Amino acid sequence: MDLTYRPRRLRRSSALRSMVRENLVTPSDFIYPLFVHEGSEVQQISAMPGANRWSLDSLIGEVQRAWDLGIRCVVLFPKINDSLKTEDGAECFNENGLIPRAIRRLKKEIPDMTIMTDVALDPYSCDGHDGIVSSDGVVLNDETIENLCRQAVVQANSGADLIGPSDMMDGRVGAIRESLDEEGFEHVGIISYTAKYSSAYYGPFREALDSAPRLTGMKNIPENKNTYQMDPANSREAIIEAQLDEEEGADILMVKPGLAYLDIIYRLRQESELPIAAYNVSGEYSMIKAAANAGWIDEKEVVLETLLSFKRAGADLILTYHACDAANWLKD
Ligand code: PBG
Repeated sequence: MDLTYRPRRLRRSSALRSMVRENLVTPSDFIYPLFVHEGSEVQQISAMPGANRWSLDSLIGEVQRAWDLGIRCVVLFPKINDSLKTEDGAECFNENGLIPRAIRRLKKEIPDMTIMTDVALDPYSCDGHDGIVSSDGVVLNDETIENLCRQAVVQANSGADLIGPSDMMDGRVGAIRESLDEEGFEHVGIISYTAKYSSAYYGPFREALDSAPRLTGMKNIPENKNTYQMDPANSREAIIEAQLDEEEGADILMVKPGLAYLDIIYRLRQESELPIAAYNVSGEYSMIKAAANAGWIDEKEVVLETLLSFKRAGADLILTYHACDAANWLKD
């Protein structure tokens, strides 16, 4: 064949391929999500093999392991006892609650690790919603904000570096920014769940925290989060959300879930100069784990390829439960 262009020339050897490689995944791209609970034992999460609910003591060891592997940020999620859950989720701003205690311990023992937190009511709400639910079943936007601001300030005061408003309601970033600044936490950043879709991929996470919407019979609790999380059919709406978050003072924008929404990551990358994070969510993790455990796919290859796809789409950061495994694999 008489061909001028032969793209295969640059694929001939491993050395050549590494020279022209466009994207790279490194452990400092990762944000490692961790579940904590009050107990003293480490509990396995059945829908997420390899992920656990950590006790405060064992959490330290796991975060140290992540640090030693080159991971520089963790995000903490609490499994709260039912007895502490209320309609207004007030436990979320208890200074001696699980998350503030976990942050203080981590900051004391591994001070250089960046700590991200989640700001929403769902782990603390007896209704399992991210906001306060009115007696006629409306998830309230404005009425919930005060508790969220208090939650953010308590987290910052405990030592959190990045606050992650995740309830996907309106005006969160601006109000939280203002509260943090008023309390002297102008150095604490906001990583906003900018385009968070109403997704079935969060199923295993809700099992891990026992945080799914609950139909208690007392009032008319919505069975899903469709009135605040985004419709999976929409992409232009993600741009509007990104513009609002930027105007309100977000430091980092996030897209969630990641894998089924790579187009959204790509679009936000075009629209914004801020760092973009992708959340490789629980359901995406569980699917890979299940197929790998059945022997149907090569876990290492599939995980690394998946993580690369987020970078290629334009993400700078990846929240992933695979963080430690991937960091280990990236060493060889
Ligand atoms: C709660 C929150 C959720 C996740 C992160 N923060 C669940 C939800 O919105 O119901 C999901 C993470 C995952 O599935 O890995 N505000």
